[in-house]
Amino acid sequence: MNIPDIIIAIDGYSSTGKSSFAKVIAKEFSFLYLDSGALYRGVTLFAIENGFISDDNTIDVPELTSAMNGLDLHFGPQGTYIGERCIEKEIRGLAVAGKVSPIATVPQVRAFVDSKLREFGKKKRIVMDGRDIGTTVFPQAELKIFMTADPMVRAQRRAAEMPGASIEDVLKNLEERDYIDSHREVSPLTQAEDAVVLDNSDMTMQDQVEWLKALISERFSINQ
Ligand code: DC
Repeated sequence: MNIPDIIIAIDGYSSTGKSSFAKVIAKEFSFLYLDSGALYRGVTLFAIENGFISDDNTIDVPELTSAMNGLDLHFGPQGTYIGERCIEKEIRGLAVAGKVSPIATVPQVRAFVDSKLREFGKKKRIVMDGRDIGTTVFPQAELKIFMTADPMVRAQRRAAEMPGASIEDVLKNLEERDYIDSHREVSPLTQAEDAVVLDNSDMTMQDQVEWLKALISERFSINQ
């Protein structure tokens, strides 16, 4: 299938399979995949390790903001890095998951991450997933998908990736994150007006890819 040079923005609730879907699409269409949540997770790890966020999630915003000037957070061959250190494993654990939503409410953090993300948008042929890609980061994206799925289905999928974590804890974390992400003042998680909803509760990955191909064919008048 001949895909035009577009930006595909995928937003939606936590653990709806946005990144798995985005990775498959990127491979299928030879697009560059960018995981915006990984950058919020990277800033969160940095804040935890440097004592800018307390156990009760109080954030020292001035200290964090000034320290971010020297934060070399970027993507590399194995995922997300701070300088030369690959942080992919650390940013996927519950310690970071429990603090990332509060960190992502800080406007200075959002500005820091947005500036990195927008650099990539100059290239096109990218698929980026997150919470505000179609609304704030790339409002001009040619294709916007808003993903959702039943909360229990989402918790089961996420728990399967986290050995030792109970479904109850994972579900609680998901619901807390959904609430904070949807209610924060800056760039809350909302469906862009021109986004197409994908509820994948009962869909396989193959179903989702077929669904997207049909959507692209129709939208851009391409013969599959
Ligand atoms: O997609 P994820 O679960 O890795 O995202 C981690 C957190 O980062 C999520 O709880 C909210 C935040 N986030 C955001 O606020 N905006 C984005 N574009 C991506 C993620």
